[in-house]
Amino acid sequence: MQIKELLKQSPSEQEVTVKGWVRTKRGQAAVTFIAINDGSTIHNIQAVAEGGLIDEETLKLVSTGACVAVTGKLIASLGSGQAVEVKAEKVVVYGTADETFPMQPKKHSMEFLREKAHLRFRTNTFGAIFRIRHVLAFAVHKYFNDNGFFNLHTPIITASDAEGAGEMFHVTNFDMEKPPRAEDGSIDYSQDFFGRQTSLTVSGQLEGELGALALSKIYTFGPTFRAENSNTTRHLAEFWMIEPEVAFYELEDNMNLAEDFVQTVIKYALENCADDLAFLEKRLLEEEKNKPQNERSELSLIEKLKFVIENQFQRLTYTEAIDILVRSKPHKEKKFQYPVEWGIDLQSEHERYLVEKHFKKPVILTNYPKDIKAFYMKLDDDNKTVRAMDVLFPGIGEIIGGSQREDDYEKLLSRTKEVGIDPENIWWYLETRKFGSAPHAGFGLGFERLVLFVTGMTNIRDVIPFPRTPKSAEF
Ligand code: 4AD
Ligand code: MG
Repeated sequence: MQIKELLKQSPSEQEVTVKGWVRTKRGQAAVTFIAINDGSTIHNIQAVAEGGLIDEETLKLVSTGACVAVTGKLIASLGSGQAVEVKAEKVVVYGTADETFPMQPKKHSMEFLREKAHLRFRTNTFGAIFRIRHVLAFAVHKYFNDNGFFNLHTPIITASDAEGAGEMFHVTNFDMEKPPRAEDGSIDYSQDFFGRQTSLTVSGQLEGELGALALSKIYTFGPTFRAENSNTTRHLAEFWMIEPEVAFYELEDNMNLAEDFVQTVIKYALENCADDLAFLEKRLLEEEKNKPQNERSELSLIEKLKFVIENQFQRLTYTEAIDILVRSKPHKEKKFQYPVEWGIDLQSEHERYLVEKHFKKPVILTNYPKDIKAFYMKLDDDNKTVRAMDVLFPGIGEIIGGSQREDDYEKLLSRTKEVGIDPENIWWYLETRKFGSAPHAGFGLGFERLVLFVTGMTNIRDVIPFPRTPKSAEF
């Protein structure tokens, strides 16, 4: 039986078997207390081995990190902190772990744990994070299923750069030492596996749109890849993205969907991860104690999550945001590292000022200048801005990016050429604007950024099991 279920049982001396990994062992010859965890919950179950009942040789093999099966009666616990415990009658050691086991019961730095990504699952913190990650993923599928969306599996290998940022990892099966060459000396991709140059996708959006223009409401939830060399606490080279796309939606519907969606999944985590969130909240409070007073957050983790689900996001245009930034104290006092003027791509410091200092709540910025956004966004009537929307979160910055899409064939074609994309490469995308085009909109939520927000962790490398970042793909 899983420990999560066992801990809910009443102690009627029934015989049970617990299997899991030893977190701690303490006590002496007369009585030994073994804390066992199987990952089903943050809580351990305590096994009590009284002297004589379990042979000493076996007990010696029981140490932090070992994997054991303990059989015995489930009894009321005399110790505080747990209702039941197992009075051990039989102990089987599946796998021993000596004192070199790195996850000893003491505080480890996150950097140390990243180097031990194969074992960090066995800590309380990472157990909590990955259970919450699962619950959030489940909540995402539940949300869309409950609201009439179809899950569409878009390709991972692609020949088009959806975001046009040129940050793609190439996919080839050429012998890189001697790829076939064309007469002019360039690499001849027509001889490659797919007969053309291909990459790992940066987004499932373009294919998602094709689905939405028939199924009306679709969403994708898959891995995406970006070869951007940004070594920050919010970027991964491989991350998971959720991309809903809806026919007949305009920008405002898209904002409503984004807000309702993130609020609903966060609420689901609050309702279904209470123990893990309570643990992470306590952990965060400990960390905060080491920070100077003025850097400590005003809200605890759970308060912060409740705040986000109970308050409407602030909506304003990019142009309005620039006005606020220009008139802000840090701008006047030259405290921003980057300049502020209409037309700039907002930096994280600007986004965080708006969210954390000015509005003190999540913000949805809309109608960005077309030059800093992707080619597929619908042009506004002024021909200067596009119907883009970014959702900005405290501590995170951009968590969602989306837009209403250009549905006019001629306008889309000319934007395609303007940004230097060969229309031939995405003829199939353009063609949907020729046959039964419809207003439509969608967005992308970076799943790890959501997990980062909900768990209160500070580095995105700690909310994905095996992070892929520049110079790092060990596990
Ligand atoms: O803003 P982005 O680039 O938008 C798109 O890819 C659109 N095709 C989405 C759409 O409209 N369907 O990325 C969307 C989100 C960002 O807001 C961010 O949360 C996340 O994906 N993201 C990353 N997360 C982790 N590491 C990275 N390198 C990320 N790049 C983007
Ligand atoms: Mg973006």
